Amino acid sequence: MSRYPMPMPFGWYAVAFDEEIGRGEVKPLRYFDRDLVLFRGEEGEAHLLDAFCPHLGAHLGHGGKVKGDSIACPFHGWEWNGDGSCAKVPYADTIPPRVQKTRLRHYPLHERNGAIYAWYHPKDAAPSWQVEAHDDMQDWSKSEVRSFSWEVKAHIQEMAENSVDAMHFIYVHGIASFPDWEIVYDGHKRRNILKFDMATPRDTQEGGIETISYGAGESVQWFTGIHPMMMLGLSTPIDAETTHLRFVFFKPLRNGKKRSGGIAEAIIREICRQVEQDIPIWENKAYCPRPFLAAREGDIMEFRRHYGQFYADYDEKARVEEMRRRGEGKLYMPAR
Ligand code: FES
Ligand SMILES: [Fe+2]
Repeated sequence: MSRYPMPMPFGWYAVAFDEEIGRGEVKPLRYFDRDLVLFRGEEGEAHLLDAFCPHLGAHLGHGGKVKGDSIACPFHGWEWNGDGSCAKVPYADTIPPRVQKTRLRHYPLHERNGAIYAWYHPKDAAPSWQVEAHDDMQDWSKSEVRSFSWEVKAHIQEMAENSVDAMHFIYVHGIASFPDWEIVYDGHKRRNILKFDMATPRDTQEGGIETISYGAGESVQWFTGIHPMMMLGLSTPIDAETTHLRFVFFKPLRNGKKRSGGIAEAIIREICRQVEQDIPIWENKAYCPRPFLAAREGDIMEFRRHYGQFYADYDEKARVEEMRRRGEGKLYMPAR
């Protein structure tokens, strides 16, 4: 029974941080509603494949061993290349012709910004944009990097909609006044500049967030105000109802040293507290295909139109109708 009409959007998604997988290492993963295996060849190149060995179905991520730039299955030792083709059947002189034609599904990867991004498309279409390097993040030596992660029982789109939902910042996050913002849509990118007043225990401070989203899987945020900081937000669908959310903060060093505590630390805590305020709403809410919106909420529908470009063959009306007929999901369709 599906909870949402939306399938998983296509795009580049972080599946691991670089440092989580060294040369010759293997990691079982579950994203895109698939069992997957991530491995890094001895030369250093990472590969992501569907996990089940076509021979007799062993999971390559549980006991598979890297050999050169391939992975050997733990069950009978068949070796698979990073492009999903069979490299070797160790106890046969030749690879059987049918096996030669077989390919494990493989996912294009990009290593950038400290993360490994995989391209997911339900029909395996080639990437329609490239992952950008966020240059200011390249010099790790100038920042202290802090990362956080959550597994959220919600569709990735519902979580992303948060950033254009002006009013929830007051009611969920307790900001002091209606925020001012500007949203610019540009192909797969969305730029959002938000200005607000933040109530602190002592007074009210002016704050701001500039966000650029790159497709459904990645956004970069710059916090201005009391203490400038940068954050990489990475969302990856585990399936159409569950999302792995990662936040990576880049805290500037002071005189080349890490600083414990301080305002930056308080902001990091505040951002994490805010997302933890959102999570119970996301996890329990229904999806409203036709919401009732008041003044200043038009951005929500504009956002949905923009986000629609990340779905392959998705007809929301037809899917909603079908869900209603079957009595599926958490869907809210008010009578009008
Ligand atoms: S199941 Fe993988 S080699 Fe047999
Ligand atoms: Fe929020």
